[in-house]
Amino acid sequence: MVNQPWWRNAVIYQVYVRSFADGNGDGAGDLFGLLDHLEYIASLGVDGIWLNPCYPSPQMDHGYDVSDYFDIEPAYGDLEIFDHLMMRANKLGLRILMDVVPNHCSDQHAWFTEAVAAGRGSRERERFWFREGQGVDGELPPNNWKAVFGGGAWSRITEPDGSPGQWYLHTFTPWQPDFNWLNEDVVDYFDRMLRFWFDRGVDGFRVDAVTVVGKHPDLPNAPDTPAGMTEMAAWASNPYTLFWPSAHDIWRHWREVIDQYERDNPIRELVTVAEAYTPGRPDLLLKFVEPDQFHQSFTFDLLLSPWNAQSFHKTAAKSYRSLHASGSSITWALNNHDVHRVVTRYGRTDAHLTSSWTGNNLVNSDASVDLEMGHRRARAAALLILGLPGAVYLYMGEELGLPEVLDIPDSARQDPIFARTEGREKGRDGCRVPMPWTSGSANLNGFSTSTSVEAWMPQPAGWGEMSVEVQEQLGDSMLNLYRQALQLRPRLVDEGKDIEFVGDGADGLFSFTRGSCAVIVNTSADFVEIPATLTDNRSVILESVQGATTNRDGSKLLAGNTAVWLG
Ligand code: NOJ
Repeated sequence: MVNQPWWRNAVIYQVYVRSFADGNGDGAGDLFGLLDHLEYIASLGVDGIWLNPCYPSPQMDHGYDVSDYFDIEPAYGDLEIFDHLMMRANKLGLRILMDVVPNHCSDQHAWFTEAVAAGRGSRERERFWFREGQGVDGELPPNNWKAVFGGGAWSRITEPDGSPGQWYLHTFTPWQPDFNWLNEDVVDYFDRMLRFWFDRGVDGFRVDAVTVVGKHPDLPNAPDTPAGMTEMAAWASNPYTLFWPSAHDIWRHWREVIDQYERDNPIRELVTVAEAYTPGRPDLLLKFVEPDQFHQSFTFDLLLSPWNAQSFHKTAAKSYRSLHASGSSITWALNNHDVHRVVTRYGRTDAHLTSSWTGNNLVNSDASVDLEMGHRRARAAALLILGLPGAVYLYMGEELGLPEVLDIPDSARQDPIFARTEGREKGRDGCRVPMPWTSGSANLNGFSTSTSVEAWMPQPAGWGEMSVEVQEQLGDSMLNLYRQALQLRPRLVDEGKDIEFVGDGADGLFSFTRGSCAVIVNTSADFVEIPATLTDNRSVILESVQGATTNRDGSKLLAGNTAVWLG
């Protein structure tokens, strides 16, 4: 097989730093805690770690509001501890990816405070999108754009002389002013930022919100949306920012910077993975992974798909075919820090419904949840995602089968989505509840080094029963299933083995072969016969639950809501 870059089939473990492990006893996760648990991550058998933003930040969107791209958030550590972490991770064979946020910074970033102070028409304001308001006294926003997290996309500042002033654009919240990428200072700043972290040894970046970085330079009004449309949907129908093509010039430029860095440092193999939600539109996704842009882009169609074999065929198989044909590396995820955890999604009695990012069902479905069913399906889904060709991103706690915490009291909610939509959307706190490491509740189930501190987000009762400590003792735990699957995965991943999708899912099976191996997922509730073409000359490599396959009258049957690897 041709030598492939390490990332093409890599499994990356996503660490939401704040929720992973608290090493300094303040109730929130940090780099000290991560350092203490690096061996655990390595023991899973993954190739690397993606760190959610851990730069200095007022934490209005938990790090996606960066106030300094060249340092570490003091509550999480400092550059020295980061360097130490890099070294330890590399020793354990783990790569480190950072998260870069190019669309916006924090309103506490020095550039933004300088821009407000510098006044109209200044070079400092050119780095953002400042505009005069409409109306008699400029009291109305410059256009009708909506923000992703609720409300309008503009906020008005007070000018240095105390008078009501210009407005600035923010795609997400008022605390996250959008950069103007037509400005050369912005371009240079991020070039320096990429190199700064590459010099410290990071192997790449997950790139935030790439679909909104471009903007029509005239900022025209977006087409009217029907009354009653959610904020999220209204925002997503604004063609003057979502997928606005000028952003691709930036990604081409970044690729030049990265390729040049690799030429200057020939032992380095760097990767960028774009966060681009393009439901049902692999053609749009392809634009981000053209050979002169991102190395990878998450293929979220699987994450957004309901638990249904036909839908898996339509989404995963379709995405695979178009991305594979383009030569791009295909990148899967079932979970991340923005969506309801998969155990809960698949446990919903309306799990047949398609979901969309934070817009509706992932966040706001009122359907009841059968956690036992959700777990059973999530186990099968683990074999599905780890059986597919390409890279896989796992989200911390996924390997423990943690469910979404749905009953967080409103008073404890911190996601700006909750406040900005006045509670209409509950937000994403439920997938960010601190990890349970042990079953001892005194120190927040092993999350904290302190026995007296409160967690930044409360853990529900019984959380410790799903801890790493407990699951390590149980042979059939979710944790051990992930470990086994990651250990056995190399038997399937060789890209030389062509993938063939089998059937169309109408029988409840989502199946594919990879050379001598086969992956079969039964999304129906009942036993289904596995076609003989898949079972002939193959035996069980791994089942999602023991005894998932049985022989009856000379055929092999697969139990409902399970999966198997054959080979
Ligand atoms: C996408 C990130 O994943 C999300 O957590 C964040 O709130 C927005 N982008 C804004 O940066």
